[in-house]
Amino acid sequence: MKRNADSALNVLGKTTYIDDMPENSDMLHAAIVTSPSAHGSFTGLDARAALAYAPGVRILVAADVPGQNELSTSIPDEPMLSTGDWHFRGEVLALVLAPTRSVARKAAALVKIEGRVDLPAIVDPRAAYANGDVIMTPRTQRLGDPEAAFKLCDVVVSGRVESAGQEHVYLETQGAIAYPEDSGGVRVFSGTQSPAGVQAIVARILGVPMNLVEIETRRLGGAFGGKEDQASGWAALASLGAVKTGKPVKLYLNRRDDMNSTGKRHPSSSDFKIGLKKDGTILAFEADYYQNSGAATDLAPAIIPRTLFHAASAYHIPNVRATGIMCRTNLVPFTAFRGFGGPQGIFVIECAIEKAARELGMDPAEIQQKNLLSEGDVSHYGMQMADVRGKETFEQCMKKAGWPELRAGIAAFNAKNKAYKRGAAVLPLCFGISFTKIMLNQGGSLVHVFNDGSVSVATGAIEMGQGVGRKIAVVVSRALGAPLSSIRIESTRTTTVANTVATAASTGTDINAMAAQVACLEIKKRLVAIAAARLGIDAATVDIADGRVFSGGKHATVPGPGGDGMVALTFAALAKAAYENRVDLSAHGFYATPGLHYDMKAEHGSPFLYHVYGCAVVTATLDVLRGSYRFDDAFIAHDIAESIDPLVDMGQIEGAFAQGLGWSCLEELKFDGSGRLLSDTLSTYKLPDAHFMPEMHVDFCTRPNPKVVANSKAVGEPPLMYGIAGYFAVLDALKAARPDAPSFHDLPMTPEKAMLFLTGDLAGVLEKERS
Ligand code: MTE
Ligand code: HPA
Ligand code: MOS
Repeated sequence: MKRNADSALNVLGKTTYIDDMPENSDMLHAAIVTSPSAHGSFTGLDARAALAYAPGVRILVAADVPGQNELSTSIPDEPMLSTGDWHFRGEVLALVLAPTRSVARKAAALVKIEGRVDLPAIVDPRAAYANGDVIMTPRTQRLGDPEAAFKLCDVVVSGRVESAGQEHVYLETQGAIAYPEDSGGVRVFSGTQSPAGVQAIVARILGVPMNLVEIETRRLGGAFGGKEDQASGWAALASLGAVKTGKPVKLYLNRRDDMNSTGKRHPSSSDFKIGLKKDGTILAFEADYYQNSGAATDLAPAIIPRTLFHAASAYHIPNVRATGIMCRTNLVPFTAFRGFGGPQGIFVIECAIEKAARELGMDPAEIQQKNLLSEGDVSHYGMQMADVRGKETFEQCMKKAGWPELRAGIAAFNAKNKAYKRGAAVLPLCFGISFTKIMLNQGGSLVHVFNDGSVSVATGAIEMGQGVGRKIAVVVSRALGAPLSSIRIESTRTTTVANTVATAASTGTDINAMAAQVACLEIKKRLVAIAAARLGIDAATVDIADGRVFSGGKHATVPGPGGDGMVALTFAALAKAAYENRVDLSAHGFYATPGLHYDMKAEHGSPFLYHVYGCAVVTATLDVLRGSYRFDDAFIAHDIAESIDPLVDMGQIEGAFAQGLGWSCLEELKFDGSGRLLSDTLSTYKLPDAHFMPEMHVDFCTRPNPKVVANSKAVGEPPLMYGIAGYFAVLDALKAARPDAPSFHDLPMTPEKAMLFLTGDLAGVLEKERS
């Protein structure tokens, strides 16, 4: 069965992305001129050679911006076009327009920077912190009294943890096409997770009210957070070109420009201290997270609290202090990436547990199990945990993996083999669902039933491959009683549903399917009244399901067209009757997530509607001579609740796990000391592929979640965390090879690092890299 309106098109390569749209003959193509170093200043640009290169070349700079030259949604620290200095390599200095893309790119290469002065660049977050280069005041969440608790502990260990960034590698790079309008505004096709966000920025750049800017997004070839805030610059540049020239302008980044000039997952450097009793009970945990924010604020103030919220991960720890510091460096402004700061926090507590386990001579899994959250526990941010499914999914997963036998089997293998060592690790999951910025937890819809019974559904949701359109269609079909095949999910447009939020925080279905359901129930009420009148019965006995009207549980029938014989009263006939009776067949729906509150000063409240739980066991086999390894099995028990579409959800779990495994073990986002991105092509940035993945064995915990539409749970981000188990599975194998060497907590666990660990050279190499 066709799962998703796009699946067949995707398989056939027929899906129309923005770059595939038919082009107008007068369309101009844009290319960007970017900063050549991580920090510098310039006095101007010499565009003579570029303008002379071909007829019709135009160059736009900061002075051409009619409105405000600013992309940030918080602290104004991110000009769209540089104004005399630059703060990261890849910053946009000028926009070049030309009749073809190739001419635009060649002309852009001819633009000369005048009066260039390179300035010292800071790439390390701790160096930035020491320099006082922080964004906003650091935030601290607390519970109990860790200082006092450490004194009561049998074991206290501390350590340092590094995690690298991650490139989104969405298949479709960033871009937009802007059409000028006679109003002075623009109509834009933008590759964004947040059309309303892009609308606000484009209006600001052009200096026009938001009602002169219409943004449309049909779908994205992937986003993973990279197009939550960072799609607006490209749409705004194209819009600027369109109003300046009166012609449509298309700006599409090639892969290298995209990798150099757009944000990625935040690299993070942390210090931790953990205290436990002899039996493995964790009494206290402290951590400082130095987030490498890059050169601009972007979403850092929303991402750092998610790191803090996940500081204790799936565990109840009675004494916690977690401090998040946003450090401004001369790297590309880092941004949202699946997990949104959560993975960076979760990795640290898992490193602390791994180190403590070693000290106590225990298996980390024992400590993990002993400290899992229980019903009613109060988190370190003051939220009482309800409907906790941590222990349940942990047990489900361990049973599936056959943990004790698995462990014994690995020990026996390792005792016999010198050239290969096996390892295993467990990762329990608890991930909070809702935008960390409470205001963003809202959404709207507009539903039309046409008088032939076909249905059009518009919401703020963006389809980026995650299947949100499919899930909304299923919910709409159930709510209206219309056949699934009659439902079309419209492209997302700011003029259809206004003031929406980004499709992010895994809440796309939670928010938008709920808003759609609200509208559908309104229309259904009207249709039921029509049916009741038509059938001459009480509306309370009428229902509509699967495209048919039911009365008292049986198919309702009406006289056929010729007057002779009875025919079923269908959804389509009902829609026609409503139209003939002048009944409104359209409705708008709105949903705001209830019950959220958070006091930023006290760092206390209930910021999430609920949590997603789960557990993963990952096993690995290490080649001790080469440092290479392969993952054997992944056993996952995932809290999916009542799945709206199990196949879609399974795809999300497998995909997120692959992305998490990539971040933890393989993908190496590498900058040199001068702030140059070394891994800026797909030949230098290694992605996980099918061969890299272990055999996956996924089970669901299907208990309904009454807090959400259709008793479901969000799925997009949480399973990414399971990938972290991959790091520890390889580490476990490495420890079997060199039992006396100290562990290291420097993600990703590349084969290169594994090799250096095995030869005894890793500590020295890491030391050198850090200094
Ligand atoms: N799946 C695909 N195929 N492509 C994507 O870009 N983005 C992820 C996740 N799954 C993504 C994806 C991220 S970062 C989020 S927040 C959610 O999908 C957003 O969609 P949802 O809220 O509808 O789950
Ligand atoms: N997740 C993703 N995107 C966001 C969030 C969040 O919690 N808050 C603001 N934007
Ligand atoms: Mo996802 S990082 O919330 O777009």
